Amino acid sequence: MPEKAIRERVEKLREEIRYHEYRYYVLDAPEISDAEFDQLMRELEKLEAEYPELISGDSPTQRVGGEPLSAFEKIEHSVPMLSLGNAFNEGELRDFAERVYRLAGRRDLEFLVEHKLDGLTAVLRYEAGVLTLGATRGNGIVGEVVTENIRTIHSVPLKLAQPLNLEVRGEVYISKDDFQRINAERLEQGEEPFANPRNAAAGSVRQLDPRIAAARSLTMQVYDLVNVEDLELRTDTEALALLQDLGFKVNWYQSCRNLDELVEICKEWTIKREDLPYEIDGLVIKVNDLALRQEMGATARSPRWAIAYKFPGQQKTSLVKDIVITVGRTGALTPTAILEPVHIAGSTISRATLHNEDEIRRKDIRIGDHVLVQKAGDVIPEVVKVIKEKRDGSERVFQMPDKCPVCGAEAVREEGEAVLRCSNVTGCPAQLREGILHFISRDAMNIEGVGPALVDQLLEKGLLKDYADLYALREEDLLPLERMGKKSASNVIQAIGRSKERELHNLIFALGIRHVGAGVARVLAGAYKSIKELAGASREELEAIEEIGPAIAGSIVNFFREDKNLQVVEKLRQYGVKMSTDPEEEEASLVEGIAGKRFVFTGTLNNFSRTEAREKVLAAGGKVSSSVSKNTDYLVAGEGGGSKLAKARDLGVTVLTEEEFLELFR
Ligand code: IVH
Repeated sequence: MPEKAIRERVEKLREEIRYHEYRYYVLDAPEISDAEFDQLMRELEKLEAEYPELISGDSPTQRVGGEPLSAFEKIEHSVPMLSLGNAFNEGELRDFAERVYRLAGRRDLEFLVEHKLDGLTAVLRYEAGVLTLGATRGNGIVGEVVTENIRTIHSVPLKLAQPLNLEVRGEVYISKDDFQRINAERLEQGEEPFANPRNAAAGSVRQLDPRIAAARSLTMQVYDLVNVEDLELRTDTEALALLQDLGFKVNWYQSCRNLDELVEICKEWTIKREDLPYEIDGLVIKVNDLALRQEMGATARSPRWAIAYKFPGQQKTSLVKDIVITVGRTGALTPTAILEPVHIAGSTISRATLHNEDEIRRKDIRIGDHVLVQKAGDVIPEVVKVIKEKRDGSERVFQMPDKCPVCGAEAVREEGEAVLRCSNVTGCPAQLREGILHFISRDAMNIEGVGPALVDQLLEKGLLKDYADLYALREEDLLPLERMGKKSASNVIQAIGRSKERELHNLIFALGIRHVGAGVARVLAGAYKSIKELAGASREELEAIEEIGPAIAGSIVNFFREDKNLQVVEKLRQYGVKMSTDPEEEEASLVEGIAGKRFVFTGTLNNFSRTEAREKVLAAGGKVSSSVSKNTDYLVAGEGGGSKLAKARDLGVTVLTEEEFLELFR
């Protein structure tokens, strides 16, 4: 061990460098020159080179380390990362506020307004104040571990000002200036420029080589402290202030107690956004009071206490060359405008959805019309309005067909619905095709190597009459197809085989039940252990699940009433597709006293991290929630548990110490 004076000098240098990084990258207010900063860095590097035993992961010299990875690991988020509902205009914003007032039972609420950064969502985990994980949002449930790349971001502290365990979420982005610079460099090197800063940020965070990520000047601003309960915070403003004190670059925010003022702020930023150094595509409006947030809860998709106010997207004019009908998986006939191609916000737009007949009538869109087309962020392009002044009389009014354009069956409009649907549920080739494409898609059965071109050929040859037929395919069936060698045929068959082991929620999603998206499928797989149980569930039973409303419940019940659907499900079972939460695994690991019980954790545990504790419970057949309710069986309280503890006592929930918790497993 080097002598004490050296160790102290190293620690001192690290602290100073951390401070100056914070001044420079977080506060944008450096106190020393770049040259002075470099000198501190060089001294530290020199000492660490001389005494490598002193190097630690949280040293400022260790931002870019490690060898390129061959792939990213996956990680399940401790709390699902929901998305936000959207408000596209003043009316929708007011509707949101009124909904909040109604749910809260009062109007004297405080809202926070924040920038909605247009980058890539990431989550950071700190254990005892040291950064241990950086991950992408992924699909909201499972993300990718990108710690090495996150470490290269100078506004992300490697070590916090206090040794806390916490998880924060925020947005990784590239400033407008850096984006210009990077694209200029790319052009110079004969590379394709990035379409927009968002793509540039996303591409950089998902780089396997951290040195490339480091060269991209990423920034991260945080806006969400996930485990607020543990720290006994009452409002988001308190949480954001704490994050700032800990060393994070916190997203801009402003509080507001009055609806008219809120509307005003949103309007102002529509213009002021131009002057920001980074791109925002809207504002996020949130309820400040954390207890109220808990009370309001969330749907399967998004919290009820927040909304994204989206700025109007970029608009351009184009020409409607034609209107065509596409038939979706659920038979919906959707009119789509075929446009003269235009460039908007980094992509070429040649189609825009017209949604349904009412929408076409309301906007009076005709074939041959000049129209204003809009693309807002990740939203599908749409026709804003017709430029009627440009009409010359040659435009043709579009009539929705009364038959399905693909199979010729009658098109019907169900009561209370705006959509026209092909009535040929069992035999429409378009519904079948879309249904199969859905079945094989990533969040469903994830059958790699099977895409639209292959599915089309298989349909043409009559090899697929439903998605279950995929499992009957043999190599010999594939070999005669276009661009199909022995190797790829074997790969396809293997990929199909592997999909039999997908999780229950993937299968539930894959079935293609109307209104059952990936998130709802997860909820259902949590509530029912098998397809059989789900199929037997009544409407009332389904509606009793918090995230399931009447429309979803009705759709599930109807799905399992159809003979055709029951037959496909039975076929899947016969081909060996896993239809339940693995029964073997369950038998092996179900622990009496834990299986079926609902756990909540609070405070700091000594023997393992929250994630490990959670996994322990799940593996034993128990459930884990993030907040205490009357359905909670046990609250496991580590050191410093706060509001959850009080609530558990109020509700008479059994409180366990960490030792008592471990006892349950013996
Ligand atoms: S709060 C429960 N605040 O926008 C959802 N999100 O559709 C909490 N985003 O991917 C999200 N800026 O990561 C929140 N100030 C902000 C944000 C923000 C950007 C992202 C978010 C998510 C998407 C929501």
